[in-house]
Amino acid sequence: MPAVVIVGAQWGDEGKGKATDLLGSRVDKVVKFNGGNNAGHTVVIPNPDGTSEKYALHLLPSGILTPGCTPVIGNGVVVDLDVLFEEIDGLEARGIDTSSLVVSANAHVIADYNRTLDKVTERFLGSRKIGTTGRGIGPTYADKMNRQGVRIQDLFDEKILREKVEAALELKNQILTKVYNRRSVEVDEIVEQLLTHAERLRPMVADTPLLLHEALQAGETVLLEAGQATLLDVDHGTYPFVTSSSATTGGACTGSGIAPTQITRVIGIVKAYATRVGEGPFPTELFDEDGERLRRNGGEFGTTTGRPRRCGWYDAPIARYAARINGVTDFVLTKLDVLTGWDRIPVCVAYEIDGERVDEMPMTQTDFHHAKPILEYFEGWTEDLSDCRTFDDLPVAAQEYVRALERISGSRISAIGVGPGREQTVVLHDLL
Ligand code: GDP
Ligand code: IMO
Ligand code: MG
Repeated sequence: MPAVVIVGAQWGDEGKGKATDLLGSRVDKVVKFNGGNNAGHTVVIPNPDGTSEKYALHLLPSGILTPGCTPVIGNGVVVDLDVLFEEIDGLEARGIDTSSLVVSANAHVIADYNRTLDKVTERFLGSRKIGTTGRGIGPTYADKMNRQGVRIQDLFDEKILREKVEAALELKNQILTKVYNRRSVEVDEIVEQLLTHAERLRPMVADTPLLLHEALQAGETVLLEAGQATLLDVDHGTYPFVTSSSATTGGACTGSGIAPTQITRVIGIVKAYATRVGEGPFPTELFDEDGERLRRNGGEFGTTTGRPRRCGWYDAPIARYAARINGVTDFVLTKLDVLTGWDRIPVCVAYEIDGERVDEMPMTQTDFHHAKPILEYFEGWTEDLSDCRTFDDLPVAAQEYVRALERISGSRISAIGVGPGREQTVVLHDLL
């Protein structure tokens, strides 16, 4: 009865969607356990005729693309109902069967006032902004912690729903009108919006912790798919430049109701270089032609907001940190193909902070802001990797780069991505 976790080991967009999809046909359930439609996962699936289909998922677990695999939106997720049904309708229109989707009764709902508050708060913060996706994620998690949230189950009891929205709006309207100079919001308007999809949603709603418990008892395999990543986790990331949910293995338990003792494997997804979207520290960030080239070759533009991703070299202290925080048993190293064509490839092996060498993620935000990468250089290669299917197919320099990363990153590398396609993967150790 294995529960397997997939987490991002950097700042997101490592290729979690592709990894989830890759395992989809061998798992019974895929659970999204944190975040909401701030996530953006691009999955490329081959057609029998040799062409391929590209899907961009935000709220739905990537397992939705695999026939026979039940996708589950866990209690740790925040759900934008309009986006949920837009995404379902979009997939159905392309022939994907979404009818097995299950949504936790305890997941929270993103109300319109929280989308507004996300955007106006960012504007208000000016140069201190986080660079959020503007989807209402932070304010909705804040409401959850403040015990002022609206949950999926509230949509089926209009009296309770109205009371909750009234209570929330008492304060929100003061903030909207007096701090942000926006119009106040009517209770009726919000209740009506939230109820729009209630009847369509009702058959999908379940006690997902119980459902998952029973699945594991019955010997099914459950894959827990993180949105965002370790360095964006609200506790373990580069706070305050983080998202507002628990994107690490601990969050997989709280966000799904699966107990830690059930987890047998933790797969960390890590890019062969590093990217970040939004504000916040990023020691290996490049501001030169190399950064541009990584962005161009890697197609590093956000799936959700279209923003250019900040690009930099691989950061081993961060990979080690992610391995430690998540208990990574296996890394999937993605986008190795993007590094083709560099004479030599720099890797950050440690930091220099105020004149001292530091090998681990520093304790304080101040130190991390001062961290300068100490780089080691590895020999590059010129061969196109996209058709490599075994480790021996890789050029020797690429093999050595992978082995070097494995030595310094805190866990073994069990698969290597050489392209966006499902089949463009070199497997070293089976992931399930
Ligand atoms: P996620 O948020 O972690 O699921 O990652 P995203 O989907 O936002 O970003 C990863 C991007 O890289 C997507 O466009 C994928 O199709 C693509 N991708 C994933 N793995 C590989 C790989 O090994 N090589 C290349 N070239 N692209 C990849
Ligand atoms: P996936 O799942 C990359 C970043 C935003 C911003 C910060 C807070 O595709 O890896 P939020 O809207 O969550 O309050 O924004 O987090 N961010 C992501 N960056 N990939 C993501 O998801 C992200 N989700 C949020 O850019 O800096
Ligand atoms: Mg993404």
